[in-house]
Amino acid sequence: MSVLIKNGRIITATDDYQGDVYIENETVTQIGKNLDREADEIIDASGKYLFPGGVDPHTHLDMPFGGTVTADNFETGTRAAAHGGTTTIIDFAIQTMGHSALEGLDTWHQKADGQTAIDYGFHMILTDMEGDRLSEMKTLVEQGITSYKLFMAYPGVLYMDDGMIYRTMQRAGELGAMICMHAENGIVIDEIIRKAVSEGKTEPKWHSLTRPTRMEAEAVHRTISIAGEAEVPVYIVHLSSSDALDEIVIARNEGLPVYAETCPQYLFLDYSYYEKDNFEGAKYVMSPPLREKWNQDELWYGLQTNNVQAVSTDHCSFRFQDQKTLGKDLFTKIPNGAPGVENRMSLMFQGGVVEGRISLNRFVEITSTSAAKLFGLFPKKGTIAIGSDADIVIFDPNREETISVNNPCTHHMNVDYSAYEGFSVKGYPETVLSRGKVIIKNCEYVGKKGDGQFLKRDLYSGIE
Ligand code: URP
Ligand code: ZN
Ligand code: ZN
Repeated sequence: MSVLIKNGRIITATDDYQGDVYIENETVTQIGKNLDREADEIIDASGKYLFPGGVDPHTHLDMPFGGTVTADNFETGTRAAAHGGTTTIIDFAIQTMGHSALEGLDTWHQKADGQTAIDYGFHMILTDMEGDRLSEMKTLVEQGITSYKLFMAYPGVLYMDDGMIYRTMQRAGELGAMICMHAENGIVIDEIIRKAVSEGKTEPKWHSLTRPTRMEAEAVHRTISIAGEAEVPVYIVHLSSSDALDEIVIARNEGLPVYAETCPQYLFLDYSYYEKDNFEGAKYVMSPPLREKWNQDELWYGLQTNNVQAVSTDHCSFRFQDQKTLGKDLFTKIPNGAPGVENRMSLMFQGGVVEGRISLNRFVEITSTSAAKLFGLFPKKGTIAIGSDADIVIFDPNREETISVNNPCTHHMNVDYSAYEGFSVKGYPETVLSRGKVIIKNCEYVGKKGDGQFLKRDLYSGIE
């Protein structure tokens, strides 16, 4: 199977030029001007940008959480991702407390195998590194699971104490693996929540008001301190506030291997969403919570200055009608998480490129290249180059869409609301190829379930 994409503007994290891309089977085999070759399929990309497929390093599909299971599974979630121009996800497999991490990995393989529209890897959420469990981490690395998420939040659920965090970080450091941290001080937050609930504060907005930015910043600071002793690189997931970003900046100025991602929800949404009527604030209950609006500018500045390297979605969808309502009477019972895997690329193009905050190259870097590099997928993923997987988004910079649960072009997630309802974007994926196969054509999914493959990831290789 061969595909020739003609006359596109090829944009990577470092380059920007006009050319043709030739794909044989699953790989880019030639790039040049006026390529005159036969191909099974010829696509005219005049007036369009060619981006490397998006890499979303933070999704939760088919995940039991908050007394229910996420609305998107590997089939619906990856198909929606593809519609939005994302061709690789890294999802979070979970070690159940008291059980082997390898058992948890098997469970996630079973959930995903044969289901996905795009390629996928796994991080492992480690919850229990007692006894000889640390030795399992070597096996995980051998199986391509080269990064581990630890939680300072959610006591009694996913939380790890500092001793276990240190022990796990040390082992990860020895193996050359990466630690991803959910940095919120869950112990103090639980105290704040208990007090609020005892005072009769039950509405969704209290989810945010009981999780202060200081408790995020403190946890980021503690993560960096412990990681320094353990000699391991750390990647702070879903960074939401200026206070927390300050800690990252200090560490990076000292030259420490500290990285961070933020998410569209923290760049486009804010605390006021919790004050919506009719329990609608529950749609935005996630952790960390949405912050006061001024934090958005600081996070954008973090992306501009490379103190924040990547944008993920933390896609964790729960239906409003019958899942978010589990917390109708008490905010602590609202399942934490929001949908967004489909909207990341178009939102970041709008807020970043169209609104003049970042260059086209930086757009590619934060939506694809940096995550591929940090998580051992580069240059197979994250760029358009000879030898790379032909994961390519043919992007129409002029197409305008209004994101809505009712727009058949922008909503394929298996959830009954859009977190970005009514947001207008200019620029949208027209055609999406995954390993050389067209899977999205003008809003239509033309791939098939099971096209996606598991990605055995390499170890982290340092980036700036
Ligand atoms: O609210 C969130 N973020 N839900 C998903 C789990 C997590 O902490 O990433
Ligand atoms: Zn988290
Ligand atoms: Zn998450």
